[in-house]
Amino acid sequence: MIDRLGRNITYLRISVTDKCNLRCRYCMPEGGVCKKEHTEMMTEDEIITAVEAAASLGITKIRITGGEPLVKKNIVSICRRVAAVAGIKEVCLTTNGILLPELARPLKEAGVKRLNVSLDTLDADKYAYITRIGKLEHFLAGLDAAFEAGFEKIKINAVLIGGFNDNEIRQLADLTKQYPVDMRFIEMMPMYDSGDFDAQAFIPYTKVLDYLPEAVSAERDGGVAKLYRLPGAKGNIGLISPVSAHFCGECNRIRLTADGKIKPCLHSSDEYSLKGLDFDGMKQVLKEAIWNKPAWHGDLDAVHRSQAGRNMNQIGG
Ligand code: GTP
Ligand code: 5AD
Ligand code: SF4
Repeated sequence: MIDRLGRNITYLRISVTDKCNLRCRYCMPEGGVCKKEHTEMMTEDEIITAVEAAASLGITKIRITGGEPLVKKNIVSICRRVAAVAGIKEVCLTTNGILLPELARPLKEAGVKRLNVSLDTLDADKYAYITRIGKLEHFLAGLDAAFEAGFEKIKINAVLIGGFNDNEIRQLADLTKQYPVDMRFIEMMPMYDSGDFDAQAFIPYTKVLDYLPEAVSAERDGGVAKLYRLPGAKGNIGLISPVSAHFCGECNRIRLTADGKIKPCLHSSDEYSLKGLDFDGMKQVLKEAIWNKPAWHGDLDAVHRSQAGRNMNQIGG
């Protein structure tokens, strides 16, 4: 469906849970999530009805997110049923990778086409620091499992954090020489409660290229990243610039939160509830949400934080 500004909305990101087995400092508070009543969350059947309603309005791509989607008990069943909805051409999933040793194969069999995994550092101590409770070896085992299960075009996401991983840009980028992966650097978005980080922590995407003078630009793949390639590499370098060069004018996506709210923009407080509605009701609300999708996300910087009213784990990025 086309929104009031002429953007064709074809991509729905579904956050299936706000829970996570890590506690990344830019994403969620140390104590985890404030628990919502079970009855406030979307059931598996409601998620499927929402996907059917969205598909009837022209959504063709679904990305499953969290929190961490793999901590959701029925995640494989959700993926299988979403992939089977008429009109859905591609089901992708974004994960921190920790549970992939058990789940990569079942997810592949369920019809998940592509995985994006999150990795901000290759140093075990720094990984433990940024995730508060994670172990790098678990991530690496997960990445291996994804390759073994036959996933292709895996993308690795690193959030750029000044004073933390800017000295690792070279090393992270070089992963594209070792593995057939895209390595993407994402500008940190100041969320409701990313209190650990001040203005110094923000690195504009252009800085990445200073570390990679030999990178040449590559053709876009329809995603939000500007793409580059290192000579001899097996995958691309992606630069995602939501803060310094936003891509709202070509935005094709809406989001569904685990508690049933459609967010037509990641950084807007506008929310439209689908919880408890049937197919027709959801379709009506989706139409209204898409039509009224905000033009852009407004200023984002250390002073102007996201207006989303939620942390990243409650939206799914
Ligand atoms: P592809 O399907 O591979 O193109 O994935 P993707 O880039 O859409 O998804 P992913 O979950 O890997 O997101 C990568 C980063 O981009 C995350 O930090 C997201 O928060 C951010 N992002 C994704 N969509 C949007 C958006 O519409 N607006 C903004 N500001 N950031 C976004
Ligand atoms: N800014 C930018 N990216 C973020 N992510 C989580 N929180 C933020 C933030 N504040 C990223 C994760 C994951 C993706 C879904 O969103 O690293 O790769
Ligand atoms: Fe969990 Fe991903 Fe948030 Fe880290 S960024 S706490 S892995 S949801």
